[in-house]
Amino acid sequence: MPFSRRSFLGTLGLGATAAAVGFRGLERVAFAEPPRTPSPGGPILLNSNENAYGIFPSVEKAALEGLRVAHRYPFRIYHDVVERIAAGNKVSPKQVLLGNGSTEVLAMASRAFTGPGRKLIAAVPTFESSLAYSRDRGAQVVEIPLTSTYAHDLDAMLAHAGRDTGLVYICNPNNPTASLTPRRDIEAFLRKLPANTYVLIDEAYHHFATGSPDYLSFIDKPVDDPRVIVARTFSKVYGMAGLRLGYSVATPATTKLLQPWQLEDNGNMIALHAALAALNDDAAMRAAVARNAADRKEFTRQAAVRKLRAIPSYANFAMFETGRPVRDVIKHFRADNIAVGRPFPRMENFVRVSFGTPDDMATFWRTWDKLPTLAKQESGLRSQESAAANC
Ligand SMILES: Cc1ncc(COP(=O)(O)O)c(C=O)c1O
Repeated sequence: MPFSRRSFLGTLGLGATAAAVGFRGLERVAFAEPPRTPSPGGPILLNSNENAYGIFPSVEKAALEGLRVAHRYPFRIYHDVVERIAAGNKVSPKQVLLGNGSTEVLAMASRAFTGPGRKLIAAVPTFESSLAYSRDRGAQVVEIPLTSTYAHDLDAMLAHAGRDTGLVYICNPNNPTASLTPRRDIEAFLRKLPANTYVLIDEAYHHFATGSPDYLSFIDKPVDDPRVIVARTFSKVYGMAGLRLGYSVATPATTKLLQPWQLEDNGNMIALHAALAALNDDAAMRAAVARNAADRKEFTRQAAVRKLRAIPSYANFAMFETGRPVRDVIKHFRADNIAVGRPFPRMENFVRVSFGTPDDMATFWRTWDKLPTLAKQESGLRSQESAAANC
């Protein structure tokens, strides 16, 4: 049955409860998940930090080539992609593991380094897959609130780290806040961390983290530390979320510890063809980064015009204070068939919005402007008072 913007509303209803969509990560357990297939007048999806513009033309062509040979196992091209990622990042292929999305990398790290008596330390709010996978392992999960600037509170994380800490998860830029944790602070943190504690640095939004001297990738400028694992994905700048490919970079010894937890033959022919093309199309990647920067600038401008308090974004989404419970805002947008980010812990008066096309965003702001103004002002005052406690 084809879905229209109206039928998304009609089918799910305003009171729809959480609907799992087949992913293990909690991020993907949508507050109310609309259909993902774009159609004229279909729902506007500003809820999963996807690339609204689709895959590059070169990637589409390569993916179709992959489809033509999809009756074969992808042994050769799997190896080629690992080599290409290694060469592009100036590391050895022994330092690279592919994942079925970077989600699989997160799962590998939780399984390799956490469990009973080996806890995970992570921020709250952050991308929650690592937390879920560690809990599945029977590990204790320590959640440390972000600082007032929405950085990871590395001092507090350190205070909780001991010999029983298997893994620390650092999402940089962080999802859902799109904020940065300064590079120098992470370096200082690594120097003080117990020797047996691994650190997973999730750089899913790496390409968008432009314009701040505080950000420097731990792949581009590695630290000489076998405890560091960096996760990257093809889902964001390359727009390949539906193809499912990501990877890790770590020392050969650490990679060996992750590998037993990797699903064998976890890359498909189409995604692998697409990934090679994506990595070879620098011009398209740079254009995607520039387009996102322009979309982000326009979002910031629109938020400022409305005197909204937006957290400075270094990603392809942003979070701003709503002045009212986000659940009400989500319902309001859903009534116009627009999906925005779900509620996040400790951020009950903030909404996360993934950047859509300019047309999508014009619709988004028109819908925002239909929110009752008086209530917005009143609860805005209240939420400012509680912001310090929230974050
Ligand atoms: C911070 C972060 N890490 C990892 C992922 C997982 O991405 P994927 O499995 O598509 O690579 C996401 C997805 O939104 C994310 O926001």
